[in-house]
Amino acid sequence: MASSRATARQRRPPLSADESAVSAQKRAAASAAVELVHDGMRLGLGTGTTVAYLLPALAASKYEALRCVATSPATEMAARALGLRVEELDEVGELDLAIDGADQIDAQGWLIKGGGGAHTREKIVAASARRFVVIASAEKAVQTLAPPVPLELVAFAVEHALAAVGSAELRDVERSPDGGVIADYLGPVGDPRELSARLSATPGVVEHGLFAPELVSMIMIAGEGPVQRRAGGKADGPA
Ligand code: 5RP
Repeated sequence: MASSRATARQRRPPLSADESAVSAQKRAAASAAVELVHDGMRLGLGTGTTVAYLLPALAASKYEALRCVATSPATEMAARALGLRVEELDEVGELDLAIDGADQIDAQGWLIKGGGGAHTREKIVAASARRFVVIASAEKAVQTLAPPVPLELVAFAVEHALAAVGSAELRDVERSPDGGVIADYLGPVGDPRELSARLSATPGVVEHGLFAPELVSMIMIAGEGPVQRRAGGKADGPA
C-alpha cells in the first residue's frame, strides 16, 4: 500500500507550465544565495516556498559549524529535519546573514512580506542580520506595491485595531506562534514610507509586512537568464 505521503503527492494536480517556471526560478534564486553562506556563519532563515528550496541546498553543504535561526515553526521543523542546527535568536545574538523570500519587490527596493504570516519574526531576524538578502522569482518584482499588506495584531480588541487601520480584514489562519492575530490591510499603499509609519503608529498593530529598502542588503531575482542581483539600501557588513 502506498504511504500517506505518496498518496497525497499523487493527488496533487500537476504544476502548470507557469507554475513550473516559477518554481524553477525560486530554486535558482535559492541556489545562488547558498553561495553566500560559509561554515561557521550565524544565519537567519526566512519562511515560504522559496526558502524551502534553500534548506536542502544548505544541508547538502554539510557545514558543521553553521548556526541557524528560523523565522517560523515551519522553517524550524524543515531545517531540523534536514539536520541543520537551529537555535534561538537570543542565543545566537547578531546574525551574519539572513535570507528570505518576498511577496512583492518594488522598483525602489521596498518589500511586502508576510504572505505566510511570519513577517513579525522575519523583520526582527532581518534587522538582526548584518546582511539581509531577499530571494525571489521574477513575478515578485513590481513597479509599485499593491495590497494586501499583511498585519499582525495584538489579540486584545482586534476589531478596534482593524477599525483604526481601516480597510483591513482578518485572515482565516491560526494565530502567529507569538499569539498574534494575522490580518491584511487592503487599502491603497501609496507612499510605502507613509503607510509604514501610519501602520507602525496604530495601537494594536504588532508589525506590518512593509520592509523598507534600508533593511535589505541585496535582492536576488531569478528570471529566464542568470540570477539578477540588485543592491538594497543597507550597507553590507563584511559577511
Ligand atoms: C512569509 C513571507 C514569504 O517570504 C513570502 O510570502 C514569499 O513566499 P514564497 O517564497 O512562498 O513565495 O513573507 O511570511
